[in-house]
Amino acid sequence: MKLVIAITGASGAIYAQRLLTALASDDKTNRNEIHVCLSDYARQVAATELPGGLQIPAAFTTVGTDTMNVPFVSGSAAFDAMVVIPCSMGTLGRIAHGYADNTITRAADVFLKEKRKLIVVPRETPWNLIQARNIVTLIEAGAHVIPACPSFYNQPQTVNDVADTVVARVLDHLGITHHLVKRWMSPASESPE
Ligand SMILES: Cc1cc2nc3c(=O)[nH]c(=O)nc-3n(C[C@H](O)[C@H](O)[C@H](O)COP(=O)(O)O)c2cc1C
Repeated sequence: MKLVIAITGASGAIYAQRLLTALASDDKTNRNEIHVCLSDYARQVAATELPGGLQIPAAFTTVGTDTMNVPFVSGSAAFDAMVVIPCSMGTLGRIAHGYADNTITRAADVFLKEKRKLIVVPRETPWNLIQARNIVTLIEAGAHVIPACPSFYNQPQTVNDVADTVVARVLDHLGITHHLVKRWMSPASESPE
């Protein structure tokens, strides 16, 4: 798959890290092409939240948000999906209103106009009315909104396990096979490795 993983300055850098780790693992069997796009605040928040900061697999290309010299900001380049994880409410609002002022918001604009899969993982609580309406606007525009709301019915034991309950849903929407979490009422043989 050809994917764009955009990371913004919302809390929850662990969600991005766990997704990148899962994609690196998937890369061992499937040949993916992964482009990582990081906002300035994403770097800052990741440095605060993750010991050692964000670890981006060497095989992935990484850019900031101040360039249009990347393939995924153009509809002419065929990509399968884009994930914004975690997505700040600022970036979410800009995407919802077509404000394509940087690499992430322009890429998201392109994915929506080309009817390509755009998965947005907002992290904010509580929401104000503007934020709630922006989320509705994105859903109406065709985006997959997967809020960073972990589940607990599998009794996660570590912070990574908690984060994986969200990342698993992202991978499901990407169509990437994984064993990050045990599925509800599934046999024990399908438990996480
Ligand atoms: C430690 C920290 C945590 C933050 N958490 C959130 C958050 O959970 N959700 C959010 O929407 N913004 C959060 N912000 C604010 C965003 O970083 C800020 O709105 C920024 O402009 C987002 O820009 P970006 O979307 O280009 O990364 C946080 C900022 C800091 C420093």
